[in-house]
Amino acid sequence: MEVSKETEVSESQIAVHWREEEYYEPPARIREVGNADPTIRERFAEEHYPDCFVEYAEMLTWDKKWDTVLDTSNPPFWRWWVGGKLNACVNCVDRHLEARGDRNAIIWVPEPEADETQEITYAELHRRVNEFAGLLRDFAGVETGDRVTFHLPMVPELPVAMLACARLGVIHSEVFGGFSGTACGQRMADAVSTILVTMDAYYRNGELIDHKAKADEAIEAAREEGTEVEKVLVFRRIPGEYHSNSPMVEGRDFFVDELLAQYAGKEVEPVSMPADGTLFLMYTSGTTGRPKGAQHSIGGYLSYVTGTSKYYQDIHPDDTYWCFADIGWITGHSYIVYGPLGLGTTTVMYEGVPTIARPSRPWRIAEKLGVDIFHTAPTTIRMLRKLGADEPAKYDLHFKTMTTVGEPIEPDVWRWYFHTVGKDEASITDTWWQTENGGFLGSTLPGLEKMKPGSCGPGVLGVYPVIKDEEGNEVPAGSGKAGNICIRNPWPGSFLTIWGDPDRYVQTYYAKYNRDPKSTDWHDWPYFANDGAMQAADGYFRILGRVDDVINVAGHRLGTKELESAATEVDEIAEAAAVPVIDELRGRAVEMYVSLKPGVEASEKVSDKVTKQIEKEIGKIARPKNVWIVADMPKTRSGKIMRRVIASISNFADVGDVTALANPEIVASINEYVRAQKVARGDVPRELSEQELAEIKAFGQVE
Ligand code: WTA
Repeated sequence: MEVSKETEVSESQIAVHWREEEYYEPPARIREVGNADPTIRERFAEEHYPDCFVEYAEMLTWDKKWDTVLDTSNPPFWRWWVGGKLNACVNCVDRHLEARGDRNAIIWVPEPEADETQEITYAELHRRVNEFAGLLRDFAGVETGDRVTFHLPMVPELPVAMLACARLGVIHSEVFGGFSGTACGQRMADAVSTILVTMDAYYRNGELIDHKAKADEAIEAAREEGTEVEKVLVFRRIPGEYHSNSPMVEGRDFFVDELLAQYAGKEVEPVSMPADGTLFLMYTSGTTGRPKGAQHSIGGYLSYVTGTSKYYQDIHPDDTYWCFADIGWITGHSYIVYGPLGLGTTTVMYEGVPTIARPSRPWRIAEKLGVDIFHTAPTTIRMLRKLGADEPAKYDLHFKTMTTVGEPIEPDVWRWYFHTVGKDEASITDTWWQTENGGFLGSTLPGLEKMKPGSCGPGVLGVYPVIKDEEGNEVPAGSGKAGNICIRNPWPGSFLTIWGDPDRYVQTYYAKYNRDPKSTDWHDWPYFANDGAMQAADGYFRILGRVDDVINVAGHRLGTKELESAATEVDEIAEAAAVPVIDELRGRAVEMYVSLKPGVEASEKVSDKVTKQIEKEIGKIARPKNVWIVADMPKTRSGKIMRRVIASISNFADVGDVTALANPEIVASINEYVRAQKVARGDVPRELSEQELAEIKAFGQVE
């Protein structure tokens, strides 16, 4: 039954009124085969915390068992499985060899459809990982604890390189292939990483694009920040060929295939690592200008992604599982590589974009490989629907579970996913979580819990979320009020800290709701997720989006400060502000507002320069939809740019009361100009949903 809910609207607290969606029961098939049995919620009830997570740790193979489940002695730097020792590569590869050595670990689908799919068995993966680990250790000279940066696209060399590092106890830091060379270099400098692993070129959107060129930019950017890159290890996308215009630099750049010959058949002893050692860094945006390196643990992280892959995606070793995402993001690390391989299943990787060989390349891949678990982001789902809403019916698709991740999914898109893609046979798990968290935080258990379109569900097993208002009071379930979603307790997948910046870790995630910095009781340290959300009376959470300065473009986090500082790198620009604009396909897109230095004339050339600079500093994914040149920004009396006012303008929404601004008169003129321009460019105003409106109104409130 659909009921309408009216709630109060205030500006300081995000408030929302919308329709409650109806429930969907888990389909029969998943109820029969599901890994999770009906006693599971009880096993993970709060009175069994933290020991409930032993169930996850026991899914792994340990060299030495832990002494302490959860160490809270240095809050909020939580440590799991302290005293335990293990190796992540052994857990994802070696331990499956005996029973499953000849089964596929990875199936890689290249973008060109005529090219052959690569099947990599666990035995083959073991060989490749060992050889590359040998090369890293003996040729590149990396040692346990060093950082190695990858700037790799969606090719099997990426998981091979990750697992090779894990084998050596070396910390990997993969930078999304679509990021610019400059972005890669800045991350190298932050991690003080002197080895870069890259590829000459890769297929994207039908083209073999030059990628090695970005390595040269990365080296330059790292050098500017004081880090000298010593070696660049270059894989070749097409064996024996070189598809980059960037020359190989003698003594610095090496073709991996040429070096690997010496390591053929090499076996490298895995390094037994402490559970609270570091597995990898994943840089993400938020709160201040520079991206921050979320530092993930070995034992806690691996146990968490393995356990959640088993219960929330219902992965069994004999499944063929496809997570259609990029390993360059946390989703790919946790749910293409570590979780699925931890469980010894077959994980599918696809090199390219969904829109190639339109309208239904992805459905042909799923049909051909017999994919039974499908995982992707709302952006991809929207795109697939747009390409051909009736296409899934033409293919022999039989998914048992389907996941969605990374953005709120509109109920309408959810229903298409369920009925048309899943053919009413698959359960949907909407998984809410973040780079910092390692794995799912809010979702429903397939087979056991009812689904509700647009809501991720309750907190996952052993995770107890709560909504708080600005003062720290709990906003009760069913109150109809939104607030800041927090997690009351530590969980094993949570990051150890921000690389090199423990103060920022405390400030960004824990200081807001902590009342006693000395307390070693975890109850005093709620994790502040930086997301707005509301909880319905049934306990299900609906995520509204970021409350900090992050714009979620197609499921990718972009920091407004990063966008703005790229824009102000352009000589002519005095000031810049980035805001989100609702986009039918990508969820959100970026619009830039810039003001010019005195004496500079507004021109298209200047806006183009801003766009180019953003592409250079961050990458094409951050390309703004529009760059608006304005005389001045709407500001508070203390000089702060009111981003929510311009965000309203960009979204054709009412700007609200602006009389308290220092320069209220500017608002009307910007509004008039931008609206006219947008309409001229073919942008059709549409009414925003309550949820969208709430997000726009809240934008930029947390500084
Ligand atoms: C958003 C991606 C609604 C949220 C795993 C979060 C979601 C940010 C969902 C993290 C979801 C992620 N429903 N919103 N199911 N999943 N988000 O770090 O705003 O790339 O804070 O991690 O994406 O993005 P990140």
